[in-house]
Amino acid sequence: MQTPTYMTDTKLFRKCLGKYATGIAVVTCRDNNGLPYGRTINSFSSVSLEPPLVLWSLSKKAHSLNEFIEAKYFAINVLSTRQRNLSEHFSSSNDKNFNNIDYILFNNNAPILVDNLATFHCKAHDIYSCGDHFIIIGEVTYCASAKQYPLIFFNSKYTKVDESADKI
Ligand SMILES: Cc1cc2nc3c(=O)[nH]c(=O)nc-3n(C[C@H](O)[C@H](O)[C@H](O)COP(=O)(O)O)c2cc1C
Repeated sequence: MQTPTYMTDTKLFRKCLGKYATGIAVVTCRDNNGLPYGRTINSFSSVSLEPPLVLWSLSKKAHSLNEFIEAKYFAINVLSTRQRNLSEHFSSSNDKNFNNIDYILFNNNAPILVDNLATFHCKAHDIYSCGDHFIIIGEVTYCASAKQYPLIFFNSKYTKVDESADKI
């Protein structure tokens, strides 16, 4: 068997990726029957300003893979420090439902969580298969933000912005 040319130390790869501090979002959609789905992600990123495009990557092993792949609309709910419980809820394998989770529907599209730091309503634009993930691109149809602090993920842990950091 041929030795792979790429780095095979997954533990080191994860550790190094963890040094890139990110925000946390919950991506939401609904299936053909109107059932809501949510998934905690930190792979959210901007792609283009004109037209406004964003991306996130979806594990090919996700339980709700088909729902997210087939969704015509999805929403990116960027979480604030007050919404850590939502990140924990939507990152657990067996607790994905929306029981006891408040959300709003605009134009019957994707569920919008309450008290988001920022919200992006997206129309599915493109999907690319890449390694063990799909890259999902969305065209932003509406966005909004609030004056809160971001929930941060760094070194595999939740943290918050150090307000003294603006003095660096
Ligand atoms: C901080 C954090 C970031 C995550 N980012 C992603 C992501 O970008 N894409 C993804 O598919 N899963 C991501 N996950 C994993 C899913 O949220 C988690 O594995 C999933 O909800 C478990 O359900 P599953 O059994 O369907 O995979 C992340 C989890 C956490 C805690």
